[in-house]
Amino acid sequence: MKQLIIIGAGGMGRTLYDLARESIGFDVDYIIKGFIDDNTLALNGYENYPPIIGTINDYQPSIDEVFICSIGGAARRKCIEKIVSKGGSFLTMIHKTARIGTNVVIGAGSIVGAFTAIGADAKIGRFNLIQSQTIIGHDSKIGDWNRIDTHVTLVGGTIVEDETDIHTAAVIGHNVTIESNSRVAACSFVIRRVKSGTTVMGNPAKRLM
Ligand SMILES: CC(C)(COP(=O)(O)OP(=O)(O)OC[C@H]1O[C@@H](n2cnc3c(N)ncnc32)[C@H](O)[C@@H]1OP(=O)(O)O)[C@@H](O)C(=O)NCCC(=O)NCCS
Repeated sequence: MKQLIIIGAGGMGRTLYDLARESIGFDVDYIIKGFIDDNTLALNGYENYPPIIGTINDYQPSIDEVFICSIGGAARRKCIEKIVSKGGSFLTMIHKTARIGTNVVIGAGSIVGAFTAIGADAKIGRFNLIQSQTIIGHDSKIGDWNRIDTHVTLVGGTIVEDETDIHTAAVIGHNVTIESNSRVAACSFVIRRVKSGTTVMGNPAKRLM
């Protein structure tokens, strides 16, 4: 039985704790050991969670441990790579209520939340955090290291490259590409390609920065 460690003990980390207890393989392939967080006081004032057992910087993974990462934004990739460089391996975690279509591929270390639907022939890369109640349309292609929030809808054929943040309730139109390192603001409707390194928002979404 593997011991699962959650990277980040903030709000998303606590959310992943709940998701982890409801995901495929819990109590069969893995149990939850605790959190690692550079703020070792992050759980002060919160009850009923397993402990923070170390910092992300200093933690030395052991062979019976697997990790998931709750951190989004620019720090996401760095935190994961820090653990991978020390030999840590990551769980591909799929909630029991997620609906996964025919021929869907989900890469190592990606997380799929509760009631999320992934349409036929979609391809999801590695280390993505796809939250609950989100829709990834058929034939979509998602790269690596992305954070896709709750209630996002990627219409069929959408392409999301790497290291993006697509925030709550954004809708991405048919065949639209979201280039790497960009951000989509909450509640935006994106109808055109989003250029690398930019932030877009609104309906229709326009460049903010
Ligand atoms: C994309 C985002 C990160 C940009 O944040 P930011 O860079 O800090 O930008 P600001 O909050 O300073 O806002 C800049 C401007 O855009 C506007 N704005 C911010 N978010 C907006 C949104 N989602 N839709 C429309 N306008 C928005 C602000 O009102 C502000 O306008 P002003 O300059 O006229 O006052 C933020 O808009 C967003 O969507 N956050 C995600 C929230 C979320 O879903 N969190 C999930 C937590 S689990």
